[in-house]
Amino acid sequence: MTILEHMITEEFEEILCVNDRRSGLRAFLAIHDTCAGPAFGGVRIWSYRSEQDAFRDAMRLARAMTYKCALAGIRGGGGKIVILDHEDLDREAAYRHLGRVIENLGGRYYAGPDVGTTDDDLRALSRGTQYCVQPDRPGHDDLAGATARGVIHGMEACLRHLDDEVDWSTQHVAIQGLGEVGIRIAKTLIDRGARVSATDIDEDRLDRLAETHVFERVEPDRIYSIPCDVFAPCAMGGVIHDVTASRLNARIVAGSANNVLAKDEHGWAIHQRGIIYAPDVVINAGALIQGATVHLEGTTDNELRVATIGKEVGAILLEADREGAPTHLVALEEARRRVDRQREHGEPFFPASPES
Ligand code: NAI
Repeated sequence: MTILEHMITEEFEEILCVNDRRSGLRAFLAIHDTCAGPAFGGVRIWSYRSEQDAFRDAMRLARAMTYKCALAGIRGGGGKIVILDHEDLDREAAYRHLGRVIENLGGRYYAGPDVGTTDDDLRALSRGTQYCVQPDRPGHDDLAGATARGVIHGMEACLRHLDDEVDWSTQHVAIQGLGEVGIRIAKTLIDRGARVSATDIDEDRLDRLAETHVFERVEPDRIYSIPCDVFAPCAMGGVIHDVTASRLNARIVAGSANNVLAKDEHGWAIHQRGIIYAPDVVINAGALIQGATVHLEGTTDNELRVATIGKEVGAILLEADREGAPTHLVALEEARRRVDRQREHGEPFFPASPES
């Protein structure tokens, strides 16, 4: 398929290819949909194997952001920037240049952090544009915390669905990845009495948690198979695949990682094994809700909005039961319905009412 054919098939509005000779910046900026409001999306920086991989990643992630907005009730759409990392990149200059590119879009795209982008990068970006998360401003400073809180609301919705109650003192959670989100989830759940097993490929991350909390260290490869209630993928995407789908020994899969399922068929595989999956496109929307609400409404305290993630996860689990279908497909269908209604009738995306 040509680029334009891809865009037509996937209903993309705009894709910019960015090349800055001075900083060495090479990037794709993909805007999937702005029917409901500005496109929200993070900036990912990664050493891609090829330009095609980077392009595909930008498109896939931007489209997922549109669905995330629809399901979270955010009056916005999906976008994404991916930067092709390389040795000669002048990082500060690259992010500043990217800021100017975003500024020229006049607010159609609003940038946040994503894999690889640090607070310093965001500060550089904000020297070029007003349309981005600025880590030193109120409401912009704990996006990973908002994601973690949203994931915990989602886990609790799964537990309520299975057990009718949430009693963390009887639950065992296996966390893959103790980064910005994973460590916050781990600390909160241990504080609430849960048993936590955790892994990370970076030993320092495990040591950091061990300084303040008691948990069980697990080798990265063993995290899939330990018997537990909740498996929480909080590292990279694609972790449920041909091998791991059959090894999982959990009742629930609920974590922050994007694109947890390597392919659709792996969602079917765990569904057939009776494992409940809280779709990534719903459960990890905390940072989007926090960042977008600050930008669109100027409110910094969005705890009730983040809590609606639990309500949305619960609704999808019920619908999946009714249809006998895997949750990721139910979520996707619901998101597409909302996007179509928005496009055809201008019907805004509404958040679920806050949990009582
Ligand atoms: P991070 O980069 O701070 O942490 C990721 C952690 O996973 C690192 O400690 C890394 O060493 C570890 N890791 C990588 N591969 C691993 C493996 N095979 N086994 C065990 N550990 C491994 O990232 P962050 O911000 O915590 O995000 C985690 C995931 O959640 C990512 O997939 C991200 O895209 C997603 N996400 C994050 C949001 C946020 O607010 N930070 C929002 C929505 C999604």
